[in-house]
Amino acid sequence: MLEHDVIIVGGGLAGSRAAVEIARMNPKLSIAVVAKTHPIRSHSVAAQGGIASSLRNVDSEDSWEAHAFDTVKGSDYLADQDAVELLTQEAPDVVLDLEHMGVLFSRLPDGRIAQRAFGGHSHKRTCYAADKTGHAILHELVNNLRRYGVTIYDEWYVMRLIFEDSDAKGVVMYRIRDGQLVVVRAKAVMFATGGYGRVYNTTSNDFASTGDGLAMTAAVGLPLEDMEFVQFHPTGLYGVGVLISEAVRGEGAYLVNSEGDRFMATYAPSRMELAPRDITSRAIVKEIRAGRGIHLDGSAGGPFINLDVRHLGREHIMSRIPFAWEEAHRLLGVDAVHQPIPVRPTVHYSMGGIPTNTDGRVRSSAEGLTEGFFAAGEAACVSVHGANRLGSNSLLECVVYGRRTGAAIARYVGQRKLPDIDEQRYLRDAQQRLQSLLDRPGQVRIGHLRQEFQDCMTEHCGVFRTESVMQEGLDKVRSLRQQAEHVYLDDKGTLWNTELVEAMELQSIMLVGEMILTSALNRQESRGSHSREDYLNRDDERFLQHTMAYSSAAGIEIGDRPVTITRFQPQERKY
Ligand code: FUM
Repeated sequence: MLEHDVIIVGGGLAGSRAAVEIARMNPKLSIAVVAKTHPIRSHSVAAQGGIASSLRNVDSEDSWEAHAFDTVKGSDYLADQDAVELLTQEAPDVVLDLEHMGVLFSRLPDGRIAQRAFGGHSHKRTCYAADKTGHAILHELVNNLRRYGVTIYDEWYVMRLIFEDSDAKGVVMYRIRDGQLVVVRAKAVMFATGGYGRVYNTTSNDFASTGDGLAMTAAVGLPLEDMEFVQFHPTGLYGVGVLISEAVRGEGAYLVNSEGDRFMATYAPSRMELAPRDITSRAIVKEIRAGRGIHLDGSAGGPFINLDVRHLGREHIMSRIPFAWEEAHRLLGVDAVHQPIPVRPTVHYSMGGIPTNTDGRVRSSAEGLTEGFFAAGEAACVSVHGANRLGSNSLLECVVYGRRTGAAIARYVGQRKLPDIDEQRYLRDAQQRLQSLLDRPGQVRIGHLRQEFQDCMTEHCGVFRTESVMQEGLDKVRSLRQQAEHVYLDDKGTLWNTELVEAMELQSIMLVGEMILTSALNRQESRGSHSREDYLNRDDERFLQHTMAYSSAAGIEIGDRPVTITRFQPQERKY
């Protein structure tokens, strides 16, 4: 059995930032990061547009209070306002700390960090490194992991959280290279496992975003919070789904329909293309449904709308949003200097996740806390995004709450002993799980079943939702989960058996998908990204509450948790 003071699952921004903080606070602690990819390939590296912080380098009128208000309004008043206050108060400090670590932010002519406009933000407060901000930040953080002597287990798949009597004791992990199983015990376990974009068929997320951390948490009977709130990014590249950054609109791009209209004037006249994502995604889907989408031959009635940057000019495009240009060019052959980019909404981000308090301690229920278990980043729900996240608040959440959670863990493990674990029992269970996947005599292929599942989620729990469509989706999801019992694997070996890993990931995808649909059916109102055509309005009387979904052998049960309101009373949300 391996042992560390702290084991962090996930090597992206939140996990790496937490590890750095723990090492800074107590260099004597043994800290390990385990990830199914190399940390530098975590999905955080794909974050593009920037990180929000009221530095006031461009807009002297900005303040943390304005940032907090924008975030709460953007969340459709579901965010916990104590958590938002911490997020926005600590933002300038964490960004300057990143700068001191060496992150190469884009600069103003006088050398200070540049800031740009982003959707739903009332001031220019998004700091950036061209449109490769996640890349710039993650590389420095991972360098720092090495500097601080953090042990990295890369390309290990964590199969299980060891959780006994409300106490997290370690994890069971599988080395993808050779199939070795290992139990790790630790005084604290942190999940920073990212999101679940691959639950859907079109997503900006990488192939590793399969919701494993959420599924492992639900599997031990802990709740998942606000799972119905799935963010669709308005500008996924048509046909591919990869992100065309909101920075493109921050730099002045237009969204245009088949009639050549900047249609956002109808939906958010004061913000136009820089309305929050839920509103912009709905607007695009409505335009497409109304026949004002565009086909590849330029005719009307097609499945996408245009994102037009031609008026910005080559120099501006190539210096501020070079990656967006490159993606459109490489993947669709579109030269954005001369042609509009075809886009439509793509699944991008999970507002919900593993419920935590503002120290990253995982909640066991609406009132209780677990021992030894922490989470941060997209996997967690603290909740700073409520029903809809503002762009450039996710990198911020990873860094602020990664740091806060790291600090809380460093304090916490001081009073903990290494737990006792029945290593052999956990190894036996893990071996049995693997063997039962390898031995299945069925006919069902993983790729086929996963595609059916992703199509089902996209069709039945998309941008717009209704009771009957979701109920039908839930029935299908349950039947597909049964078919997963008959998945057949070709590869029976132990060396780089990625098919076996995919089989485990499919189990995660399916559990998370069922949690999303069940939570969405329960919320009979429209709020933020959860837009019901059968309940058109927000209903604060019944639903100004977080959803807490619990999975067990008997099915999924729904409870709730009150929203924390400190300074902003819910109002009608208009832009
Ligand atoms: O559009 C983007 O660059 C995404 C940013 C974000 O999700 O925060």
